[in-house]
Amino acid sequence: MMQLVGNPASPFVRKVRVMLLETGQEDEVEMITAATSPTNPAPEAVAANPIKKIPALIRPEGCTLYDSRVITRYLDARADAGLYKETRVWEVLTLEATADGLMDAAVLMVYEGRVRPENMQYEGWIDAQWGKVEGALDALESRWMSHLRGPLDAGQIAVGCALGYLDFRHGERNWRKGRGALDDWFAAFSQRESMVATQPAG
Ligand code: BEZ
Repeated sequence: MMQLVGNPASPFVRKVRVMLLETGQEDEVEMITAATSPTNPAPEAVAANPIKKIPALIRPEGCTLYDSRVITRYLDARADAGLYKETRVWEVLTLEATADGLMDAAVLMVYEGRVRPENMQYEGWIDAQWGKVEGALDALESRWMSHLRGPLDAGQIAVGCALGYLDFRHGERNWRKGRGALDDWFAAFSQRESMVATQPAG
């Protein structure tokens, strides 16, 4: 059986779990929960990934896969699910990269508060990360809505998990303001069984 090294709070791990559910492969992967951080990586993450990050997918036959974009692409190919449709693969990958970049910045903001000693925290750096989040949100609202409203694909899954993470960790920043189309899309997307089943808590 494959093993997914991860943590339910991570939006990158959620993306993989949503992909597993959407492609009907959830029973083929065992979850190995790792409490990990950049300064104190969990032994499971260190063993699975030289970059010491989650998620990593350990396969009985074949190399361990990372990062999340490699894993989602692999799971899609494994199930022949068509969530990276060849006819628009560059759009799907760019949308996924936009969502992943948003997640990266949003997670780094959380780590800045959690991992760095208070007297070493730098407000300008946190603001710059939020600037990246806003840049991605504005691009989604202005350029990606028609793609988001189309047939399900891996880019949409990534955006759903990215917005879910903003609600989870940055709710006070009110990402919805001035982005009504994205807000409406996310309200509907969040109702998918795969999203409800992977909602982060705690
Ligand atoms: C979080 O708690 O926000 C988190 C945990 C693991 C990876 C990324 C984020």
